[in-house]
Amino acid sequence: MLITLEGLDGSGKTTAWEALHDVRPEVTFTHEPTDSWYGEAVRRSESEDRADPLAELFLFTADHADHLSRVVRPALADGGVVISDRFTDSRYAYQGASLADTDVQRPLEYVRGVHQAFTREPDATLYFDLDPETAAARAGATNKFERAEFLESVRENYERLIDSEPERFVRIDASRSPERVLDSVERVVGDLLAER
Ligand code: TYD
Repeated sequence: MLITLEGLDGSGKTTAWEALHDVRPEVTFTHEPTDSWYGEAVRRSESEDRADPLAELFLFTADHADHLSRVVRPALADGGVVISDRFTDSRYAYQGASLADTDVQRPLEYVRGVHQAFTREPDATLYFDLDPETAAARAGATNKFERAEFLESVRENYERLIDSEPERFVRIDASRSPERVLDSVERVVGDLLAER
């Protein structure tokens, strides 16, 4: 079973992902961008204000392809549970937004199309729902993806993804205290694993 955590920068999903390690030692915990050299290339692009958005999409997607074949698919093939901090939806939402000012028509659909032939759809996705202003303030707006205006379009894309597949997403109200967010996350993950 593949569970993914998604949301805006500053939504607290990484904190929740870290807290889950202690209560679910049997799970394979992983994240995108990864720590591979592909992931390093991605982080370099992130800090580059003028990076070409299409080149950036393919860097993120290369990192994803490597992550799938090296980590995710082997763990799933062993019958394991994988919980990933960010996955395909981050590309659909973020690159769907960063490609909006390019010649690419219908960017979100385009980015989904690029993934279609090879990706593994998550079985469930926890969406950490937070307004873009709070998200940008919490994230400290240190890179181009963390600005409130950009996060507003990212959030719209996440909402479109949720509308198109409501059964896959579980919405977590990330505006609450960290303790309450963690309680919800642990309960939702517990329920998902029990249903397995
Ligand atoms: P993030 O999860 O914040 O990683 P970290 O906290 O370890 O730096 O991801 C980094 C940024 O990259 C974040 O602003 C979201 C963005 N991102 C994309 O634009 N597309 C993607 O496919 C992924 C995985 C992340």
